[in-house]
Amino acid sequence: MGKSILDYETLELSESERALVIIDQTKLPGKTEILHLKTQKEIWTAIHELQVRGAPAIGDAAAIGAYLAALEINTEDGTEFQKRFFEATAYLDSSRPTAVNLSWALRRMEGVAHEALARGTSVREVVELLRCEALRIKAEDIHICERIGAYGLELVKPGDGLLTHCNAGQLATAKYGTATAPMYLGHERGYRFKVFADETRPLLQGARLTAYELCSAGIDVTLICDNMASSVMKNGWVQAVFVGCDRVAGNGDAANKIGTSGVAILAKYYSIPFYVCAPTSTIDFDMPTGADIPIEERAAEEITEMWYKERMAPKGVKTYNPAFDVTDHTLVTGFVTEYGVARPPYETSLKEIRKKMRESA
Ligand code: MRU
Repeated sequence: MGKSILDYETLELSESERALVIIDQTKLPGKTEILHLKTQKEIWTAIHELQVRGAPAIGDAAAIGAYLAALEINTEDGTEFQKRFFEATAYLDSSRPTAVNLSWALRRMEGVAHEALARGTSVREVVELLRCEALRIKAEDIHICERIGAYGLELVKPGDGLLTHCNAGQLATAKYGTATAPMYLGHERGYRFKVFADETRPLLQGARLTAYELCSAGIDVTLICDNMASSVMKNGWVQAVFVGCDRVAGNGDAANKIGTSGVAILAKYYSIPFYVCAPTSTIDFDMPTGADIPIEERAAEEITEMWYKERMAPKGVKTYNPAFDVTDHTLVTGFVTEYGVARPPYETSLKEIRKKMRESA
C-alpha cells in the first residue's frame, strides 16, 4: 500500500542538513511536497504563509527554528550569544500573531538559554540544551494530543455525528491533532463516527487538510461548505462539535479559525455540545478576556481571487479578512485539555488545570 499523508511527519528536525523539514500544506491535497528550510527567513516565511500551520505545529516549528538559529551564532561569548539568540526568537515570534503557542515555545527556548548561561554553561552546551528542548516540545505535543484524544472520547458515543471546523488535525500538530484526536482514537476502537468537516473559507483548511487526513485514515467524513453547518445540525446529524484553538483567555473566551464562533452559536441554538480542544500551551493566563487577543488580518486576495479560475469580486471592492474569531466562553461546553475537561466557570476550572499542569511538571 502507498504512503498515506498520515505516515509523514508534519515537521521534523534534520540534524544532518541543519534544516526544519515540513510538508508544504499550501500544496495539499494535490501535491505532497517536502520542504527543507535552512534559513531563518525561510522558516519565518513558511509560518507566515501557512506552509506549516496550526497552533501546536507552529510552536514546534518555531522551537526547531530557534535551535537552528542558535547553531548559526558564531561566538563563545555567553552575553553576545544570548543577545543574538533573543533577536532570532523575536524575529520568529513576529511571523504570526494569534496562536500563543508560537511565543510560548519561543519563551521556553529563551528560558533554557538564559538559565543555562546564568549558571555559567558554555555556549556549545547551551546549543545542545536548546536542541533537546526543541525535540522535547515536539514530543510533548504528541503525548498531549493522545491525552486530549482519550479525554475527548469520553464525551461521545459510538455512531455519533461530529462536526469540526478548520484543521485541528495531525497536520496542525506533531501527530493525531487536537480536535481530531478523539476521532482517530474512536476509529481505532470501532466507534464508527460520522464526521462533518466545514470547508473553512477562505483558505479551505477543512476541505484541503481535514477531509484529506480523515479520508486517508478511513474515517467516514462528509465535507460541507461553512454555510451548511446549520442544516446538518437541524437534521439531527451532529451530536457534538470539536474544534481546536489558537489562544484561550483566562475567562474561557477562545480564539480559533474564522467562523468558529458562528459554529458555536449554531451549536448552542441546536443544543449540541461545543468542545474546544486546548493543550495547556494554548491557554494564555496573562489575558483575562478574549477582547485583547490579537487577530491576524490577511490579504484581500484570499477572498477575491484565491482558488477561483478568475477573480470573483469587483476590482477595488473593500474587503475584511480576519483569520480568526473569538468564541465567547458562554458558548463553550468544555475545554478538552491534556489534564482533563474544564467546565464552566472557566476562571476556576482553567486555574485547576494549570494547577494539575504545575504539579505534574
Ligand atoms: O490559520 P491556521 O490554519 O493556522 O489556523 C489553524 C486553526 O485555527 C486551528 O484550529 C488551531 O490552530 C488549532 S490546531 C490544533
